[in-house]
Amino acid sequence: MKDINIPASRFSTNSRVVFFTGAGISAESGISTFRDIDGYWSKYDPTKLASPQGFDEDPDLVLQWYAARRKKIKKARPNKAHLAISDFQKLFTDSMVITQNVDGLHWQAGNAPVLELHGNIHREKCFTCGRPGSEVASTKGAKSYCTCGGLMRPNVVWFGESLAMSTLSDAFEATRQCDIFFTIGTSALIYPAAQLPYEARNTGAFVIEVNPEETPFSEAADLSVRGKAGEILPKIFREFNAAIS
Ligand code: APR
Repeated sequence: MKDINIPASRFSTNSRVVFFTGAGISAESGISTFRDIDGYWSKYDPTKLASPQGFDEDPDLVLQWYAARRKKIKKARPNKAHLAISDFQKLFTDSMVITQNVDGLHWQAGNAPVLELHGNIHREKCFTCGRPGSEVASTKGAKSYCTCGGLMRPNVVWFGESLAMSTLSDAFEATRQCDIFFTIGTSALIYPAAQLPYEARNTGAFVIEVNPEETPFSEAADLSVRGKAGEILPKIFREFNAAIS
């Protein structure tokens, strides 16, 4: 693989860095993405499995699908891309991860801080009153209930639902403040999250996209690198490390 031409010497260890990630960063850990050819939404209907209406109509179906995903995720381990972010975070101490992923692999890799825009699949909350619950115990998708009598559901953001206001505003604030913004493994289609790379670009950050495929954002990126995150990120890290450490 040829060198990736990064203007790394424009930055220093004081530069502020944001890593914005999507399902693609976990692909090399064996977790399915959503919109690739073999992604979840090519096989399943998101309106049935990832919407409040779908849960209302058939909670068992939804709980079982999430239990199956959770089981798979529990066996998965962070990959070279998550670990490269840990390396970056030692170099750039003022940095954070903003993820659309619900799998918790960033935490497992030691990435911190991590803003989980779309929630966390290992947690639940009440479908009726919204009270957050603890870590999900059942691996079979059994129903459990809140003290208010409501049914517990995965603590993730479904289609048609709003993101947590404070998490979203922290994400936009960090994006506006950063000097380097990575957008990694996301199709950049789902808003408001997909606005973040544009916000970074508009507020002067150097924006690097890492994705095997072109996305709607690719043309707006300062640098758009085609390839798998687990292969490309360690390479980009080495370039920054050599130039500024
Ligand atoms: N490395 C980097 N990127 C990859 C890799 C890889 N190894 N494999 C696939 N990709 C890319 C794909 O090319 C695609 O652009 O990851 C992207 C995955 O896109 P989506 O499946 O749309 O996932 P994401 O962008 O995270 O979706 C956003 O949509 O359904 C909702 O809530 C769900 O958080 C999710 C949101």
